[in-house]
Amino acid sequence: MAIKGLILAGGTGSRLRPLTYTGAKQLLPVGNRPIIFYAVDDMVRAGITDIGVVVGETGALVREALGDGTQFGCRFTYLPQASPLGLAHAVKIARPFLGNEPFLMVLGDNLLRGGVVSLVERFAAAQPAAAVLLTRVDDPRQFGVAVVESGRVVRLVEKPQDPPSNLALVGVYCFDARVHEAVAHLEPSWRGELEITDAIQWLVDHDQPVDAAEVTGWWKDTGRPEDVLDANRLILEDLEPRLDGSVDRESRLTGRVTVQAGARVERSTLRGPAIIGKDAVIVDSYVGPYTSIGDKVELRGVEIELSVVLPESRLENIEGRIDQSLIGSRVTVCGRQDRPHTVRLVLGDQSRIEF
Ligand code: G1P
Repeated sequence: MAIKGLILAGGTGSRLRPLTYTGAKQLLPVGNRPIIFYAVDDMVRAGITDIGVVVGETGALVREALGDGTQFGCRFTYLPQASPLGLAHAVKIARPFLGNEPFLMVLGDNLLRGGVVSLVERFAAAQPAAAVLLTRVDDPRQFGVAVVESGRVVRLVEKPQDPPSNLALVGVYCFDARVHEAVAHLEPSWRGELEITDAIQWLVDHDQPVDAAEVTGWWKDTGRPEDVLDANRLILEDLEPRLDGSVDRESRLTGRVTVQAGARVERSTLRGPAIIGKDAVIVDSYVGPYTSIGDKVELRGVEIELSVVLPESRLENIEGRIDQSLIGSRVTVCGRQDRPHTVRLVLGDQSRIEF
């Protein structure tokens, strides 16, 4: 059975401002790779190579990063969605691309440790109308929630006040063509969206089998800055150490550290898991565990850990250690040696600084 892929890469990413004023949330890097790349890898690993990418306002940036798919061994078809009207709306506009083929839909800003191979295999073998991936969460009220009996979904609710279970939908769904009829019957929800959760409930109501499987490993939605740092930490747990750049004799590397090509490390301590991007310059600095330093970043006289720095930023002579920080691209953070010891700031809208 040939299964198509559908990756949702629209949305505004309001909780990740100011980074999302100039970028797409799906393109924020963890382990120095855009989050959406991991979703593509997952699909390709499951044998899915014909992939539709639903894009919104940030479509041009997403296209530029993903290209035509050659770098991943797949083929992308971009599907513009004029406004973010819901996951089921995305399925609707993707219909010409999907035809009547079965497909796997995932959210481009979510990360999954266990991948999707086993879900896709089970779906292909059992051929239910839909198969969804679930995970147990502490507060299910912000998710779609499912009630499962012997591996079958018997009920679903989107963002319930009073959750009927603690099993949340993680935004990974297999469907066959029956979903299109379900979507055609939907009315917008209270938040004005066509909810895929309601479409699946429609299938259940019409006696169509919906299978459920639980996530193995971890799942991470990267909606907020702290989620991106968490995702970075989880991704770096699997980092393969590699030395392609140069490290001088006065530097010390401990644990799993990757220094990408063209990077230069001098008189510095790097403690893994950590990754230093291409052509980055790290001088007289400390880079601690769970840190991703982007391409062409310059660190001089800086201590940093549990952080993500996007490409081309410059951090210099900073007192104290930078911790759990998400720093955009082409940002400058410099300590001042001269007096008076004042603080000078040029900050974009919705920036956040904690002294
Ligand atoms: C969407 C789905 C929800 C699911 C969640 C997973 O919610 O509607 O059912 O649990 O993704 O991230 P949204 O991100 O649109 O609030």
